Amino acid sequence: MGLVSAKEMLEKARKEGYAVGQFNINNLEWTKAVLVAAQELKSPVILGVSEGAAKYMTGFDTVVGMVEGMLKNLNITVPVALHLDHGSFDAAKACIEAGFSSVMFDGSHYSIEENIQKTTEIIAYANERGISVEAEVGSIGGEEDGVVGAGEVADVNECKMIADLGVSMLAAGIGNIHGKYPANWTGLRLDVLKNIQDATGNMPLVLHGGTGIPNEMVTEAITLGVSKINVNTECQLTFTAAVRVYFEEKKDLEGKGYDPRKVIKPGYDAIMATVTEKMELFGSVNKA
Ligand code: 13P
Repeated sequence: MGLVSAKEMLEKARKEGYAVGQFNINNLEWTKAVLVAAQELKSPVILGVSEGAAKYMTGFDTVVGMVEGMLKNLNITVPVALHLDHGSFDAAKACIEAGFSSVMFDGSHYSIEENIQKTTEIIAYANERGISVEAEVGSIGGEEDGVVGAGEVADVNECKMIADLGVSMLAAGIGNIHGKYPANWTGLRLDVLKNIQDATGNMPLVLHGGTGIPNEMVTEAITLGVSKINVNTECQLTFTAAVRVYFEEKKDLEGKGYDPRKVIKPGYDAIMATVTEKMELFGSVNKA
């Protein structure tokens, strides 16, 4: 099966009470690990690509070519969406042209009027081509230059305004942040999430910053309308920890242990394990 829009898979998830994982990809091995895990678990999956990661992989066209090639060569039959993560206006358009099946336009740092205007334009452009669109209200905090900013809490009326534009999924800040949560983090604002759900009806809601949120909180968020959960840092942490052990055990000095494919293999296995754990927690196993 080729790439699909995220719209149908998220509407199904919203209706049936589970969430689809968005796992950000960084290279070929990363992509393969996520796809193989999804296929083994018969789970739908969203591959997230930030502008920075796309640039690292040489550009949107390379990403589309790599993912489409893998779907074919690995005989992937579960639904897979290729999604731009936190895109600018120009990047969202460029991804649609390059063959992504889903885009996030993150206008959360604009005024609500400008966010509405730009999101509306992206929706029109995407709709004509059957591409799903994620919009954001209330920016998701995170680490910048070593300082961890608190996640904003979205305004419920603004969420409704953006949801009514016809987006396929809505990311609303509820105190969540990207990267590791600081020790003094007070948790997700599930009370606000409930209000957003009440205001936006059946809109699939997106939870960013999926790394480090306690499992019970994730499960509760899913009961309150979260249908897509983004995970990036956790795969990076488990990948790097596993590769570190390889070097600590001096495996690179044994036989042909210097082969980069062998060096990366423990990291690949670690991503598979993390993705598997998340898919089980999110309830998307056997939902393809
Ligand atoms: P984490 O890096 O905290 O898992 O967040 C990922 C994310 O929200 C990508 O948009």
